[in-house]
Formats: sequence, C-alpha cells, structure tokens
Amino acid sequence: MRFLLSSALLLAATAQASLPKTIYQFPNPTWVENIRSMSNGSLLVTIIGRPEVHIIDPFVKPATSSLVHSFSSANAVLGITEIIPNTFAVAVGNYSNVDGPTIGSFSIWKIDLTAPNNTHVSKIASIPRSGLINGITTLNANTLLLADSTIGHLLKLDIRSGKSKVVLEDETTKPVAGAAIQIGINGVRSKNGWLYYTNIFLNSVFRVKVDPFTGTPISRIETISSNIPTPDDLDIADDGTVFVPGSLSNTVFRVQGDGEVTALAGNLNSSLVASATGAVLGRTWRDRGVLYVSTTGAISAPVNGTFTEGGKVVALDASEGWTW
Ligand SMILES: *[C@@H]1O[C@H](CO)[C@@H](O)[C@H](O)[C@H]1NC(C)=O
Ligand SMILES: *[C@@H]1O[C@H](CO)[C@@H](O)[C@H](O)[C@H]1NC(C)=O
Ligand SMILES: *[C@@H]1O[C@H](CO)[C@@H](O)[C@H](O)[C@H]1NC(C)=O
Ligand SMILES: *[C@@H]1O[C@H](CO)[C@@H](O)[C@H](O)[C@H]1NC(C)=O
Ligand SMILES: *[C@@H]1O[C@H](CO)[C@@H](O)[C@H](O)[C@H]1NC(C)=O
Repeated sequence: MRFLLSSALLLAATAQASLPKTIYQFPNPTWVENIRSMSNGSLLVTIIGRPEVHIIDPFVKPATSSLVHSFSSANAVLGITEIIPNTFAVAVGNYSNVDGPTIGSFSIWKIDLTAPNNTHVSKIASIPRSGLINGITTLNANTLLLADSTIGHLLKLDIRSGKSKVVLEDETTKPVAGAAIQIGINGVRSKNGWLYYTNIFLNSVFRVKVDPFTGTPISRIETISSNIPTPDDLDIADDGTVFVPGSLSNTVFRVQGDGEVTALAGNLNSSLVASATGAVLGRTWRDRGVLYVSTTGAISAPVNGTFTEGGKVVALDASEGWTW
C-alpha cells in the first residue's frame, strides 16, 4: 500500500514537472467557457458561440476531444456542475458578445454520462425572465445555485419542481455601476458549506455560508480578495485555497487562506492562458495537484490588441504547498 501510494505520488510529481502544458486546443475561433473534471479524469468543457459540450481525455497523448452534445435553439453553453456522480447540469441559452444575452432564453439541462456510449440529455427547467445564467454549482442532489450575471443575483433551482427563486442580491452580486460591461456575479462554487463567488468588475472573490437545503446565506459575506483583476469561474481546494482565472488579465491567480494572492500562470501580455475563463482541479491520483484552465483564445480582447487563437485547455502545476 505504502509502495503503491508513493509510486502514485512519484508519477503525479513526474507529470507535473512538464507543466504548464496545453492539453488540447480547439480551432480559432472557439470560446471555451467553463470546465469540470469527471471522477475518471476526463474533462467536460462548455462553448460559447456554438451550443456545445465536449469531453477531453487528458491522459492519452495527444489528448482527444469529442462532442458530447449540441443543443438546438441556443448558441451558448456556460456553467457546468456535477449534480450526482457522472451526471452534470449545464446552463444553455443565447448570448452575443455584442448584444448580450437574449432575455428569458436560458434553461438548465442534465447530461447523464453514467452509461458509457449512451449519454442521456434532458431539460431540468427554463429560467423565466433570465438575463445571463453564467456560473452554476451544486448545493445538494436536488438543488443548484445559479449566477445570473446581468441581473446580478444568485438563484436557487429546485431540480424536482423546476422552480427557481432569488437567494442573494446585493452589492456583491450586482453589476458595478458604470462598468463598460454590465456583468456582476460570475463564477460560483459550493464547498464545505460555503458558497464562493466572483464579481468580475468588482475584481473580487467572496464567500458566504449557506443553508445546505435552501441556499439562503447564514453568515456575513466575507471578502476573500478585492484585488484580482476580472475574476471568472473559480475552483476551491480542500484546504480552502482558491484558484481563479482573471479573464481579461490573461492570468490565473491563487488565493491562500491568509488572503495572499499570487499569479500561478500568465500575465497581461502572455498567450499562455489567453483570456482564462474557468479552472478545475484534477480528481484522480494521476493528476492530483494539477489545475486545468479553459480559455477563449482572447477572441473578445486580443492579447496586446492583436493576438487571438483557438480556445484551449492548459494544465498548470498547482501543487506548491499542497498537503498530500
Ligand atoms: C436562440 O438562438 C437560436 C440560434 O441562433 C435561435 O434558433 C433561437 O430562436 C434563439 N432563441 C431565442 C429565445 O432567442
Ligand atoms: C470517463 O467516462 C466517460 C463517460 O462514460 C467516458 O466517455 C470517458 O472516456 C471516460 N474517461 C476515461 C479517462 O476513462
Ligand atoms: C463504447 O464504444 C467504443 C467505440 O465504439 C467501444 O470500443 C466500446 O466497447 C464501447 N463500450 C461499451 C461499454 O459499450
Ligand atoms: C505581447 O507583447 C509583449 C511585449 O512586447 C511580448 O513580450 C509578448 O510576446 C506579446 N504577446 C503576444 C501573445 O504576442
Ligand atoms: C504589457 O505590455 C504593455 C505595453 O507594451 C506594457 O506597458 C506592460 O508593462 C506589459 N505588462 C506586462 C505585465 O508585461
């Protein structure tokens, strides 16, 4: 057992020595919006501009990608979350980078991947009067939390009844008055009883304790950092370390428990993570301590004003200070 464990750690450490590394790149233009890992290690990504979800196997070399599903009557898939093992929910709707979302066009769908080669896709619910349903996260097997970025509030969705209800709406969730793009709450992630969320143009990451059944906030809202340029869809390690892409800063940040912010990868002028949108930690022994990041390829905000490329998935070494 000890031998097996140390071999696994050695393999994981060897894999990390070659990071950062682009795992998979889509053709230009492809806006990869969000990313989640499956328990078997495959990565699910969502696309804006085409209503698609793809699956990427990061363990074969070169990594392969295939289409899981294309939704009809929509042009974008945004948030993604695992509801129960191997069953995911996604936010689907119409969004234009120029005109914003089509009001009321968003719905939440279920993608059941439990049976290999037999994916089931079904609608959970339409979200009436929705603006832009962006990040989504799982509160419990019957309840999702949804960030509506343009209205600027957090909704609770009851999967069985399909009914949704506002549970949080304040200055931390609303778009910033006067900001060029009227988008507020963006990434959401439920972890250990807390809801972590970003407000992109407040440059802030917050967390609040939420009731595990109703999603209602039950603590004061804590500011984890107000110093992260344009934070997007985040992930949280077991020890509470926050990993968050700064989309328009072409940088991925780490925020430790003491609030210290460090740039894990990229910089404003770099294409390493050109407009990073989402982040997720690996879940298997083979990629423990690896952070996978999705990008748009900077298609809405070119690096240095000129550089764009196809959106991609980049693996970063997030294991520094990791408790194994
Ligand atoms: C969303 O866009 C699709 C594809 O462009 C279109 O067929 C559909 O009518 C649109 N739906 C709404 C509610 O605007
Ligand atoms: C993980 O499971 C999915 C769904 O069954 C499958 O398509 C994929 O190939 C699996 N990935 C790996 C690495 O085994
Ligand atoms: C799934 O499909 C692949 C490729 O067609 C095939 O090799 C594999 O045996 C199938 N798996 C199952 C469980 O049917
Ligand atoms: C952007 O400009 C900087 C400084 O001139 C340069 O080092 C960098 O390579 C450029 N980035 C891209 C993606 O072209
Ligand atoms: C990025 O490029 C701009 C303009 O070339 C320069 O002013 C700035 O210092 C660079 N920033 C970084 C982080 O390299």
